[in-house]
Amino acid sequence: MCGIVAYIGKKEAYPIVIKGLERLEYRGYDSAGVALLKESKINLFKEKGKVQDLKNKAANEDVSGTSGMGHTRWATHGEPNMVNAHPHLSGNGKIALIHNGIIENYAALKTTLESRGHVFQSDTDTEVLVHLIEEIQSKNNLDLAEAVRISLGEVTGAYAIVVMSTDEPDILVGARKGSPMVVGIGKDEFFMASDATPIIEYTKNVVYLEDEEIAVINRKGKLSIKTISNEDVAPAIQELKMEIEALEKGGYDHYMLKEIFEQPRSIYDSMRGRIDSTKGDIHMGGLEEYRNTLMNAKRIIVVACGTSWHAALVAEYLFEDLARIPTEVEYASEFRYRNPVIYEDDVVVAISQSGETADTLAAIELAKQKGATVLGVCNVVGSSIPRATHAGAYTHAGPEIGVASTKAFTAQVTVLIQMALWIAYNRGAINQAKLTRYLVELEAIPAKVEKTLKCAEYAKELAKMIASSDNALYLGRGYNFPIALEGALKLKEISYIHAEGYPAAEMKHGPIALIDENMPVIVLATKNSQYEKTVSNIQEVKARKGKIFAIVTKGDTEVKEMADYYIQVPDCPEELSPLISSIPLQLISYEVALLRECNVDQPRNLAKSVTVE
Ligand code: M6R
Repeated sequence: MCGIVAYIGKKEAYPIVIKGLERLEYRGYDSAGVALLKESKINLFKEKGKVQDLKNKAANEDVSGTSGMGHTRWATHGEPNMVNAHPHLSGNGKIALIHNGIIENYAALKTTLESRGHVFQSDTDTEVLVHLIEEIQSKNNLDLAEAVRISLGEVTGAYAIVVMSTDEPDILVGARKGSPMVVGIGKDEFFMASDATPIIEYTKNVVYLEDEEIAVINRKGKLSIKTISNEDVAPAIQELKMEIEALEKGGYDHYMLKEIFEQPRSIYDSMRGRIDSTKGDIHMGGLEEYRNTLMNAKRIIVVACGTSWHAALVAEYLFEDLARIPTEVEYASEFRYRNPVIYEDDVVVAISQSGETADTLAAIELAKQKGATVLGVCNVVGSSIPRATHAGAYTHAGPEIGVASTKAFTAQVTVLIQMALWIAYNRGAINQAKLTRYLVELEAIPAKVEKTLKCAEYAKELAKMIASSDNALYLGRGYNFPIALEGALKLKEISYIHAEGYPAAEMKHGPIALIDENMPVIVLATKNSQYEKTVSNIQEVKARKGKIFAIVTKGDTEVKEMADYYIQVPDCPEELSPLISSIPLQLISYEVALLRECNVDQPRNLAKSVTVE
């Protein structure tokens, strides 16, 4: 939610900052801006819209300078326009600031600052912070870093910020609390960014700032870090494992399509080193320390948002079905505010692709306060959630850039299946023979996903029948129910068609009223323990002239006969079936969005990483 990037060194900053913004654009894309420091002057370029619009605007301008910073915005306070775009300047024009997060007490601060003569240009909370820094600096005659430190002591809320000043052209000051910030250490140059993607092509050495830390990067090669309470911190340098190719489209038209087609690999990667069917072995190294807690857990609570919440629903089926542990699934945003009953022997599992979702982070903090053990299932290595949880398992899906989650979802489900099997086997809920059978099936999944992807051409055909609809209904039972929800979310977020996911049996309790000849009904009718029941639900739709788009298991004859359109997928145990049946739904959504000429990778109003509540 908002991307920030900054550079200081000997090179021209603008190309680095612009490229960085393009990599961070998944975080927000309603306006963008850049500040460049040159000869004691800050040159500011801002534009409503995409980074490309900013580039067009700056095309014939002087964009030179070896210190610069940029911002791509997802609006919270103030509509998306040029004035509200970051960077924001102090009243005297000497300080510029970019910000990701929300300054919650901005209104009170603004009133005080206005009474002292500060005049504001924008409707943003961010502009208040840069005026506050100016006020504190000039009143107390402080250097920039100290003025930032004291100012941050007065704000409440979440932030990742970078600040520059014409008075100190050889430094940039960054800080974080609740929003991510990584510092890149190059040779005689430094970078700061919301994540490592703008940095990776220049250096692999990074420091992830912790909450309430302030970093000063100095053109002369010095990095110093302090806490807001003025304690020095020794930078903990880590090496990035990411490769630059993972951030490119690799010949695909969109990141989403690339990520859909990466799934045989990403699913394989999320099992690598964890299972071995020939030995009947399963290891969850990251969870080992909490083995006993998990084995003895009376209850598991899974918290997440969006697509990760759908993975959590799959986990509920898995943990109860295989491991026989009562499991509850919660929207993180509801859980954190509804005073939930949490016991010390509860295990809370937080699922997140980005590892930065504010609501999920808050749910984790609440669970920790109540004494529960909190485990994370995250994709982005080094992000906030893996650092906030007691232990966890990475999904290893690689960077997911498309805003609509695809490969991160199947990697989450793969990890959750392994967790369920690991717990089930160690608790004695399944025996060795059963475990080995599941492991053999799990190892076969990447090849089956590869086969499923061959349905891409059929997905195009089905998409033509759905693209002009205003609504769509997705139905599934058992393990297919969360996939129906996920299919509906994929369609609505990238093609803006209103879609609902339902347990197929629930349809008769209301949604059936919507069905007529114009309603596409996408039914997950793969062979599972509830197949016959699903067949009956299809009949109910057909009796009301609904159009059936069925996902069926290869070899099926019954549903194929009834369906108007169908896609066949390989057979697999139903506990693993979400990994297969989600694939055609991803492809259908992608193709529908293309037909409707929607921006597949950057759907309107959305952002990849939701770091505000
Ligand atoms: O990074 P997270 O997994 O925590 O993100 C949660 C949701 O914001 C995310 O899944 C969102 O729903 C995606 N746009 C779904 O495609």
